[in-house]
Amino acid sequence: MEIVPLPTAADVARLAADTIEGLVRRRAADGQPAVLGLATGSTPLPTYAELIARHRAGTGPSYAGVRTFNLDEYVGLPPGHELSYLATIRRDLTDPLGIPPELVHGPDPDEAGLPTAGERYEEELRAAGGVDLQLLGIGTDGHVAFNEPGSSLASHTRIKTLEEQTRQDNARFFGAPDDVPHHVLTQGLGTILRARHLLLIATGESKAEAVATAVEGPLSASCPASVLQLHPHATVLLDEAAASRLERAVHYRFVYEGKPAWQGL
Ligand code: F6R
Repeated sequence: MEIVPLPTAADVARLAADTIEGLVRRRAADGQPAVLGLATGSTPLPTYAELIARHRAGTGPSYAGVRTFNLDEYVGLPPGHELSYLATIRRDLTDPLGIPPELVHGPDPDEAGLPTAGERYEEELRAAGGVDLQLLGIGTDGHVAFNEPGSSLASHTRIKTLEEQTRQDNARFFGAPDDVPHHVLTQGLGTILRARHLLLIATGESKAEAVATAVEGPLSASCPASVLQLHPHATVLLDEAAASRLERAVHYRFVYEGKPAWQGL
């Protein structure tokens, strides 16, 4: 796992955008458009804004044929609700990049199909050839996607119940805390581990403890993000505040600053 502490959240956004664009360009050069795994929530927004700004300035890559897969989705919102994660990712990223809606995927929260929704999403991911690069955020309780503490490290896409802490954290998007759904569909930790590159980004002091537990603590279902320790290619981009509880921060900075330019992330 590579930990990269950077001075500011804007630095995290720029490096995350560079990494995503690099992948999109490499896959296009191979003639196989990239499959991107996308996170919602607040943390990726500056990264998405950076990608959109470069696209509009004409300096970004072509997104022709790029397919995207969301990590998770609320269950119980009316179809097409503006706060559904599918509507959110279209508004915040894929529409502005010109990626057509039929190439933008998320777990299907339609109530009638819930018992099979997890397996159907796994099948969609398999049919797409798997995710090349999965962008991840982290919850204050260490969750990734909506795998809350205690989630199986080998889990697949399935329905889960949100912790009260996560509902409170996400209440800012809804009118009232009680409006936050209790249930979600989420890729499992085993699903996420199948992506070829994991790129976790975290900014702000509120994430510092979860980040330190995930990357320097033991591998444990009590901190779902610690599952990154099992992945052969996991990168963690942090601003100074999110890196503030790391014991080995000096070492991580030293390693990153000394990297040969050709190596990339
Ligand atoms: C959202 C997701 C969540 C968020 C996490 C952090 O698709 O998978 O795990 O990444 O809750 O959310 P923010 O970035 O809003 O702090």
